[in-house]
Amino acid sequence: MRMFPNRREGMMAARNRLGLIFAMFLMLAGAACVNAIGQQATEMRTPKPPDAPRIHGPKIYGARPGHPFLYRIPCTGIRPIRFSAKHLPATLKLDRQTGIITGEAPEAHGEYVVKLEAANSHGKDSRTFKIVVGDTIGLTPQMGWNDWYTFYNRVTAKDVRSAADAMISSGMADFGYQYVDIDDCWARKPGSQDPELKGPVRDADGNILPNARFADMSGLVKYIHSLGLKAGIYSSPGPLTCARYEGSYQHEAADARRFSQWGFDLLKYDWCSYGRIAKDKTLPSFQAPYRKMGSILEGLNRDVVLNMCQYGMGDVWQWGRQAGGNSWRTTGDLGVVKGNVLPGFYSIGFSNAEHSKYAGPGGWNDPDYILIGTVGNARDMNAPARHTQLTPEEQYSYMSMWSLMAAPLFYSGDMTALDALTRNVLCNAEVVDIDQDSLGKQGRIVRKTDEEFILAKPLADGSLAVGLFNLTTAPRSITVNWRDLGVTGRQTVRDVWRQHDLGVYATDYSTQVPVHGVELVRLIPKKRL
Ligand code: GLA
Repeated sequence: MRMFPNRREGMMAARNRLGLIFAMFLMLAGAACVNAIGQQATEMRTPKPPDAPRIHGPKIYGARPGHPFLYRIPCTGIRPIRFSAKHLPATLKLDRQTGIITGEAPEAHGEYVVKLEAANSHGKDSRTFKIVVGDTIGLTPQMGWNDWYTFYNRVTAKDVRSAADAMISSGMADFGYQYVDIDDCWARKPGSQDPELKGPVRDADGNILPNARFADMSGLVKYIHSLGLKAGIYSSPGPLTCARYEGSYQHEAADARRFSQWGFDLLKYDWCSYGRIAKDKTLPSFQAPYRKMGSILEGLNRDVVLNMCQYGMGDVWQWGRQAGGNSWRTTGDLGVVKGNVLPGFYSIGFSNAEHSKYAGPGGWNDPDYILIGTVGNARDMNAPARHTQLTPEEQYSYMSMWSLMAAPLFYSGDMTALDALTRNVLCNAEVVDIDQDSLGKQGRIVRKTDEEFILAKPLADGSLAVGLFNLTTAPRSITVNWRDLGVTGRQTVRDVWRQHDLGVYATDYSTQVPVHGVELVRLIPKKRL
């Protein structure tokens, strides 16, 4: 029930309504786009960021003592922007032009509260950034890009470089996308006759060798780092990767050392042929290879995030963190899931949402990558990448669900073919803030029926992010009661995608939700006067 207990709130709500009508007019007039079928005008939900600087990204960041440190301050606004940082630990230094912080994390465990500042000729902004030096890294879900669903077994160093360049030039990095990850197929392939893949898989000292498409791994990682971005690599605890390239079995420590020498910041460790090595299907067998790699990585002198990939076996969400994982895939590959009326990401999302209580700072449920924009076909890897068949509403639902689930946000489409809608879906600062929230809670399921799905995620500032998803093929009015959400009292309801307040509500909130779409709101408790 909506109410305006005083004149000011009533006027504000009226102004918000006028604002909304005006914004809708602008969107329809200027930012409307025609979908692939060429019929329907689509609203671009995310407003253009202001010309003045706005600092984005996580407000909390974990680093191990004395380890190399690299962080590019995500910031929108017209460049040049001048950056500064108050109370930056003495072991770190900021490049004021690029906003890249480098150096080593302090040796002493503790919390270092830094004030990041950015200014240009249009204005300025600041944001608190708490560096927590200790044992835990990955305090917020990782964000970045992974090549798999675009390049499969064709990936080259050049593709990865271009993706890193595009992460900067597209502005994605300004919203917090940071990791540039190489997936399978960078190593050599035992038994292959392909001149680019064949040859000894290791050198005389047992060091794993990249294939000819990745002739200079250190150079590639250095380049990624020079942009202020981080680099990820892939291996398997089995003798072979899923695509049958060299894996790390019996070379775990040497491979981890090599990855670290090359400068990698993340390892995706994919079960694959380890199935042949594991003695049985008991929990200790599922855990063994991850425990081993987890403790090796913890002993390195750089921070390497461990992205476990074993498709949820043995209820990995219950023990992934203890095994050293910073995230763990909870399901099989999203790209091969056949949707029915609802596209495949919904079923993956529904299942990932069940494990909300296991996610938290340092360890996240991973429902796989975001497949929108121009993207390859995992069921026919040789087919050229093409534009997603998901409707714009489905794409906004996808990104909303992943953010409410505090999922790692990895885009896996073609970075060099980012269109306006894809950027609009991936780059909404308030949506990303929900994913990256410092409290690190995964949204819980409030309602799941054949028609409606509701997720609610408590945030560090005491507000609550709520996603109302319409699973049907007709527009639908969805209502949620405060009782179901566990909140009481008057709440300012904010439309997160469109970034404006909708009004003050006392007991419930109802809204019209498009077909397969979402309305994502934030409930901000009104302070009692
Ligand atoms: C598995 C993983 C995918 C990808 C491929 C690579 O299928 O789940 O994410 O890494 O292997 O071969």
